[in-house]
Amino acid sequence: MSNALDVSWLIQKDRIHSDVYLDADIFEREIDILFSRHWISIGHEGEIPGHGDYRQRLIGRQPVIFLRDDSGTVRVLMNRCTHRGNAVCQNERGNSKGFTCSYHGWRFRLNGELATVPFPDRYGGDFDKSALHLRQPAQVASHRGFVFATLNPDEVPLTEWLGPRVLAELDDIADLSPLGELLVNAGVHRLKFRANWKLMIENAIDGYHAGSVHRSYNESIAARTGVNLASLATSSAPARIVDLGNGHCAWDSRALLAAGAKSLPTMQSKGDAARAYEAALIERHGKDRAAHLLSKSGSHLYIFPNFSYVGSHFRLFQPVSASETRVQLFPILLKGAPPDINARRLRMHEGFYGPAGIGGQSDDIEIFERNQLGLAARTDPWSIISRGIHLETRHDDGTVSGQITDELSNRTLWKRWRDLMTQPSEESAPCAR
Ligand code: FES
Ligand SMILES: [Fe+2]
Repeated sequence: MSNALDVSWLIQKDRIHSDVYLDADIFEREIDILFSRHWISIGHEGEIPGHGDYRQRLIGRQPVIFLRDDSGTVRVLMNRCTHRGNAVCQNERGNSKGFTCSYHGWRFRLNGELATVPFPDRYGGDFDKSALHLRQPAQVASHRGFVFATLNPDEVPLTEWLGPRVLAELDDIADLSPLGELLVNAGVHRLKFRANWKLMIENAIDGYHAGSVHRSYNESIAARTGVNLASLATSSAPARIVDLGNGHCAWDSRALLAAGAKSLPTMQSKGDAARAYEAALIERHGKDRAAHLLSKSGSHLYIFPNFSYVGSHFRLFQPVSASETRVQLFPILLKGAPPDINARRLRMHEGFYGPAGIGGQSDDIEIFERNQLGLAARTDPWSIISRGIHLETRHDDGTVSGQITDELSNRTLWKRWRDLMTQPSEESAPCAR
């Protein structure tokens, strides 16, 4: 896409144009700008608890290794041999003492240093191993174990990108653990679907679809437990969507508890495990904060562009093309919580989002593909995101919120998308070292 191509008109305050889901040039610009020049989520430190644990990830289309080195430092290294560019890490996940390039045998330490090269006698005196370490993204930073990276050395600090409200949301997630530490060791679900990645991020904080798309799930829960999930996402439900700034947003479930909802994970928990868990949270955080944390146990968080947290898991979105997306879902367990509490979290995650889950794949993924199909009919190429636009509430602290079935989250993320996508195009940002 050239600089001259203007995408700003595609995003209006109450509608968006189909090109943003269908156009290959726009997709390339997303990879260049959103996924290369700004912060994206890489994963969570809990995925790689042991020295030498690693995962392969992508920054845009660039392969990286997300790992913990032998000093315990979490790193992100470009998965490219500094000799002639071979990928030094082949497995999607694993544990290693280092990475040996399979082409000519250069060996790299976990901290990225070039350790040895075969037959070094054929290099001249100016051959400097210390200048040939594995490269790394320009910036890597984390908050409460959630790791982010960017290829852009001039990008603002992560704390500024996230903003204080998102930082507080991540604190609330991590503090659900009585030890303040999340475990991300329960495996991963991988999804792929034939639709644009933004159809799933729109859905990350969308209460409007729950009654129709998840009707069969709601009915099965009602039949088994008597709990009326459908009532949580009607136009009179008290839950709110909150604009957290910079394209980030949240579904705040606290009002559901205040209204007496009995459907969210810890609310269902009765008995010794729930009492022990609550007591452990009170001991660590005090009564008020513990109550605050428990009241948010069903909340959702979306961090622009590729991260969302959905109650008991977080997910990373990986765009492949304008019409293909891959997603990884990581269940989150709580270090120090009673085993029954963690087992409940995992069972709830599996029941809705797991490979045999009734909601995530059979419902939402099917809808994304139908959405992509329908968007191709372009006699009228506009999608409407005006629901609740006249009913938004501006609070004293500057935040804006809307009702759970309103389209505030869509307006929030699309405004951010437009602001970033209308930046002038540049050469790909360099990496450090
Ligand atoms: S490309 Fe890696 S050792 Fe040659
Ligand atoms: Fe859904």
